[in-house]
Amino acid sequence: MSTLLPGRPPLDAVRLAALAPGLQVEVLDETTSTNAVGGDRARAGAPEGTVVVAERQTAGRGRLDRTWETPPGSGLLFSLVLRPTVPPVEWPWLPLLTGHTVARALRGAGYAAGVKWPNDVLIGDRKIAGILVERVETPSGPAAVVGIGLNVSLTAEELPVPTGTSLAIESGVEPDRTEVLVLLLEALLEAYDAWQVGGPDARDQLATSYAAACVTVGREVRVELPGGGQLLGRATGVDRQGRLVVTGPDGQTAVGAGDVVHVRPVDR
Ligand code: BTN
Repeated sequence: MSTLLPGRPPLDAVRLAALAPGLQVEVLDETTSTNAVGGDRARAGAPEGTVVVAERQTAGRGRLDRTWETPPGSGLLFSLVLRPTVPPVEWPWLPLLTGHTVARALRGAGYAAGVKWPNDVLIGDRKIAGILVERVETPSGPAAVVGIGLNVSLTAEELPVPTGTSLAIESGVEPDRTEVLVLLLEALLEAYDAWQVGGPDARDQLATSYAAACVTVGREVRVELPGGGQLLGRATGVDRQGRLVVTGPDGQTAVGAGDVVHVRPVDR
């Protein structure tokens, strides 16, 4: 039985089944976490391009052990299984590539989206999408489960946090979730393929294009570190390892995504 509220149309599984041959989409009415299911599918041998999308998650996972919650049918909750063959040192770029690509695809659809380092997608200072990339070990080698939660039709009252937003809040209309999912999957596949097959040049190009687009760069920030410490300064760039470079009174420090709890702008 569907868990959707009246007035929230379900995803169109037939249309999603007819996507590009490189994408196989499984639509679930309810699950714990699409990342958990994506990991199971990868361990069971699912090929690259396997997508698990759910109308509702009962245990949606966020970064740093946070949760991700949205009312059934109000967002896009999906995970894409990838099997990257780029050198292991390039893997940390996958979350950044994902955030950058989602923001760019949303801009193409008319939303003023940007990526906040490392991979939150914002409109203005409000978060519209979160990304959780998890590595899973499988019999045929390591895989990446790229999980994306995008707020589509949530009303202001439904936002789990007041600092969030949704496509409907931003545009005043409720976009077709299937259409948005198709747009994002096609954009992700294209950007991922370019990164995978394009060699060092494509990876250098991603680093340059990400740093130019990242809305954190150029801002005064407070970086909250595990254990309660903090780093204050101006975000002056993103280095070739995908780390945020913060320039403060003691010079430059590069911080990796796994080393920070939060990056907060302090200049507005
Ligand atoms: C974050 O901003 O903390 C990341 C949130 C990621 C949420 C998505 S929803 C679909 C996928 N499945 C999960 O359990 N998490 C990701």
